[in-house]
Amino acid sequence: QPGWPGIIHAYSARIPIPPGAEVVTLGEGNTPLLRAPHLSELTGSTVYLKVEGANPTGSFKDRGMAVAITHALASGLRAVICASTGNTSASASAYAARAGLTSAVLVPQGKIALGKMAQAVLHGARILQVDGNFDDCLELARKTAADYPVTLVNSVNPVRLVGQRSAAWEICDVLGEAPDIHCLPVGNAGNITAYWAGYTEYAADGVVKNTPRMFGFQAAGAAPLVHGEPVKTPETIATAIRIGSPASWQTAVEARNASGGLFDAVTDEQILHAYRLLARKEGVFVEPASATSVAGLLLTAADGRIPQGSTVVCTVTGHGLKDPATALEGNVEVEPLAVDPRAVAAALELS
Ligand code: F0G
Repeated sequence: QPGWPGIIHAYSARIPIPPGAEVVTLGEGNTPLLRAPHLSELTGSTVYLKVEGANPTGSFKDRGMAVAITHALASGLRAVICASTGNTSASASAYAARAGLTSAVLVPQGKIALGKMAQAVLHGARILQVDGNFDDCLELARKTAADYPVTLVNSVNPVRLVGQRSAAWEICDVLGEAPDIHCLPVGNAGNITAYWAGYTEYAADGVVKNTPRMFGFQAAGAAPLVHGEPVKTPETIATAIRIGSPASWQTAVEARNASGGLFDAVTDEQILHAYRLLARKEGVFVEPASATSVAGLLLTAADGRIPQGSTVVCTVTGHGLKDPATALEGNVEVEPLAVDPRAVAAALELS
């Protein structure tokens, strides 16, 4: 494998795989840690974006899926299954295709973004639309995997989260230390669990001296961790995190407590504001759920919960092209133009 070899080879000492296993990779990881000048200016901190949309299928899920599918292939079972709000299913179907395995994905009917559905279709997944939400899909996937010869590749499969730790390691490798604060969108709560495990592992091994405070943000209509109880009918424009009963609830609470962090909720309006700001001021196109970390950054910086001068990393978890419908909403009025430079100049207000 020329160039970057993917996370399993890059962090082979930290990501165990079965002896003799064939590594399944699409070159995931090594994503940009991008300075965010506008956000830094707004918040009085040094803000970086960990741009996870740069992964092979456009989200952070690829880190965990490389490991999960490597294990699944080694197990000898021929099929994998997952529940998903879209990104896990896109990733699972791509890595399963790469490994020659069959994939089945359970998604909430009508509630997954267009690009994610397109990925699962083209990679050849069996797509099962469930008349229910993500939490119902996950329960169904768990029951199926318990009774039939199929590997569950949701983050309740512990090897997934070992792969997702690699994002924290990359950040430390680039900065030479951990940030002061790490902001994340939280849905099923696997990623915040994985980042915290990654940071504490590096600190325990003496690779870095510090660990960050973990700030987890949920959409106001789907904020069980903020309220301290499950949400029966979660609702938010950020469909990726439309989850009422996170599987990694306990470990996410431990990450917040042990790190001196916090959970908070942001409204759909705040999410969309951050979504547009990222695109227009930083040049970074993310999907709405991903903008939740930045909406949370803006909220907590504005009310003084982020000390001036902090180093803050916001993970932006998925690519904006995943959800073209939200990007185009209310914005598309492209009138035909005369083939004439004067008309172009007038449209640009140059004359
Ligand atoms: N951001 C995006 C873009 C996601 O797709 C998800 C989760 C999250 C954030 C939240 O991460 O669940 O580890 O707290 N997506 C899952 C899926 C549920 O099915 O693709 P989390």
